[in-house]
Amino acid sequence: MQRLIPTLRKDNVDAALISVLHSLQICAKEIAYRLSQGEMAGVLGSTLDENIQGETQKKLDVLANQLLKDILLESDFVRAVASEEEDGIVNGNLQGKYLVAFDPLDGSSNIDINSVVGTIFSVLPVPANASGEADMFLQPGNHQVAAGYVLYGPSTMLVLTTGHGVRMFTLDQTVGEFLLTDDQVTIEPSTREFAINMSNYRHWQDGMRRYVDDLLQGVEGPRGKNFNMRWVAAMVADVHRVLCRGGLFAYPWDGRSADKPYKLRLMYEGNPMAWLVEQAGGLAYTESQRIMTIQPTDIHQRISVILGSADEVKSCLNYLESSQK
Ligand code: F6P
Ligand code: MN
Repeated sequence: MQRLIPTLRKDNVDAALISVLHSLQICAKEIAYRLSQGEMAGVLGSTLDENIQGETQKKLDVLANQLLKDILLESDFVRAVASEEEDGIVNGNLQGKYLVAFDPLDGSSNIDINSVVGTIFSVLPVPANASGEADMFLQPGNHQVAAGYVLYGPSTMLVLTTGHGVRMFTLDQTVGEFLLTDDQVTIEPSTREFAINMSNYRHWQDGMRRYVDDLLQGVEGPRGKNFNMRWVAAMVADVHRVLCRGGLFAYPWDGRSADKPYKLRLMYEGNPMAWLVEQAGGLAYTESQRIMTIQPTDIHQRISVILGSADEVKSCLNYLESSQK
């Protein structure tokens, strides 16, 4: 089985970008190890102890953030990083060609129950006349040069696109390498599975409620088929399932509180997942727009997300279109 770096070389990925992805790979292995240590993670230490010196018994999402920052900012090719765990951007090498936005541990409430979590990342080019400020990151998702996630489950997997389709790599613990285990991930257009937090039903707009009502009616309803529901409550795991066997994943607009109508973040959740899903043949939209065409206004901007099997996303959007908020 092919290792990560030779696979990227075969795709003619820019050497500097390969180096950034190599740094991410190092982070992934370290975070996977820490997660496997569970409650002991903060005290037992590990191979990269010098990078996180003085940090005792930190929560794992804080540790993951620190590791990603330390290792990525050491790279000659990383100009700056933006993280869910940091208010502002953190500058790295002034000559760096790339910006990396990441969610260090997505689904972090799953840590407490020893369940699946992941690191989501998006790599963007440094724009011309880079300011050294957060506005460098404010580029639509279709500017991404690499995007993916690391899933820390029963096995650790790296799922990646550089625009040549979607590849899945599995961490071989015996040699400490990510090996190519699926070189052409594709999402079937049709599905019978959906993922949504049903407890928000009463807060959704009418179109969303009607869409889900019809899914729930199964063969007896207008959709004419039975649907199954799955919800891991970690976007990274729910999207991974969609990439593995299709489905629709949605975190739509909801009216719980006027100042926070969306849950997921554009720069390090929506965009990287949207690119992966599109590269695998699926669709990724908000209620009204392809996610990757959104011009961001803030590095921590939130958006609604409807992604997955193409026919099902279209069907959901039809319900939304034919009704008002
Ligand atoms: O990062 C936000 C997140 O943890 C996602 O991974 C996940 O999809 C969502 O929140 C879960 O939210 P809820 O609390 O509604 O299940
Ligand atoms: Mn998250």
